[in-house]
Amino acid sequence: SFNFKNVTDIIYERLDKRIVNLLRLIGIYGHELKMPVYVVGGFVRDLLLNIPNYDIDIVVEGNGIEFAKYVGKQLDAIVVPYEKFYTATLVFKDGFKIDIATARTEYYEKPGELPQVDVSTIKKDLYRRDFTINAMAIKLNPNEFGVLYDFFNCQRDLQEGIIRILHNLSFIEDPTRMIRAVRFETRYNFRIEEHTLDILKKNLEGKYLERVSGSRIRQEIEKILEEREPMKAIRRLAELGILKHIFPKTYYTPTMDEKLERVFKFLPSVKERYQNISDFYAISTVLLEFYDKETLDDMRNRYGYPKKFIESLKFTENMMMPLKSMIETRLNFSDIYKVIGKGNPYIFIHLSAYLEEDDQEYLITYIDAILNTKLEKVSGKYVIERFSLKSGPVINEILERLYAMKLDNPKLDEIQTVEKIAEQFLKNLEQAEISENQKT
Ligand code: CTP
Repeated sequence: SFNFKNVTDIIYERLDKRIVNLLRLIGIYGHELKMPVYVVGGFVRDLLLNIPNYDIDIVVEGNGIEFAKYVGKQLDAIVVPYEKFYTATLVFKDGFKIDIATARTEYYEKPGELPQVDVSTIKKDLYRRDFTINAMAIKLNPNEFGVLYDFFNCQRDLQEGIIRILHNLSFIEDPTRMIRAVRFETRYNFRIEEHTLDILKKNLEGKYLERVSGSRIRQEIEKILEEREPMKAIRRLAELGILKHIFPKTYYTPTMDEKLERVFKFLPSVKERYQNISDFYAISTVLLEFYDKETLDDMRNRYGYPKKFIESLKFTENMMMPLKSMIETRLNFSDIYKVIGKGNPYIFIHLSAYLEEDDQEYLITYIDAILNTKLEKVSGKYVIERFSLKSGPVINEILERLYAMKLDNPKLDEIQTVEKIAEQFLKNLEQAEISENQKT
């Protein structure tokens, strides 16, 4: 039928020769093992949309692990099997990976009846997937190479830009699909279809998202944040009420929207300067503002924020107005330092939510000063020996004062300056002692 057209031409036109050869070989090995094999899911979707995609998912009607081992041997690739799921990952010498799964087959419709024919097994596998646009397969066996298996009018939805579930239990089987729906909508500028939207909203109300582990939710949100237009997706999550089931006390107002916009403007500069910045934590600084302690504890348990992160969130929240005006008035680095010290990237990100572009730039110059300033000549040991002091908090105070001054003036002479600082300190200490003695 029309749905099962041959897409070999498209494969040759749009894919690298290397990929085409690999698909061809996989088909040949399928033939040798007498197993039907397909490339499925996102790879097929993006092939038809003419968008590059190197995530190859193979489905085998038969035994996926046995197949993977055979391919691994032929192509000198490492096989990483996941026995429990009947799947395997093949890792090639150059690091390229493909995933191989077994089509979930119901061998007998009723006890005693003959096994289902091949076609129905890939059909059932595809039917269990998230959306029609992801539910197509291309056969790879040589006698049928390039035949597009489209059982559910998926091509039409792909052409019309529609996100549609295949059956009404889809979001219940995997509630993270609600977030995926928004991700695909945003990425391709598609639309969730009416009935799918109805079901999604019912399942939201049914609190199915709350049953999913925090780490899976977090992973889905992180995928959204890796997309080209994360703000568009976040807005849509808010609009559909999904965000409320992820961050229950967050009110998505125009102000919230502006804050997130500013965070996204600022984020690249932070990432240039610090390693391992999490986008999820970054937006959380804003999304978790003004949470009551109890809900914040819930969020911490659910999404695994480190204690330090929650503490700096509270600090920034309480200090936001003074911090903001310090930056806006271009206060000296040494004075800013007295309030936030070296800070941490999430404090800066949170603060950036309240800053216009030129103020964000000043904040970046502060960060650079912090990252580039070190005491080179004067150490704790130096201070102790030079001024015959005992180790204690005073030493640190002297060093901090010196450091703060160096932030304002990178060329300052540490040795000369520490003399003045120490002199002051010692005078103050003496006076404190005198007044202490006078009291008694
Ligand atoms: N899938 C699903 N339900 C999910 C996740 C995945 O049915 N919750 C299926 C879809 O058919 C999908 C395939 O598994 O195409 C592979 O999933 P994944 O790699 O997560 O997504 P892709 O569709 O490849 O999307 P992306 O381009 O973002 O990688």
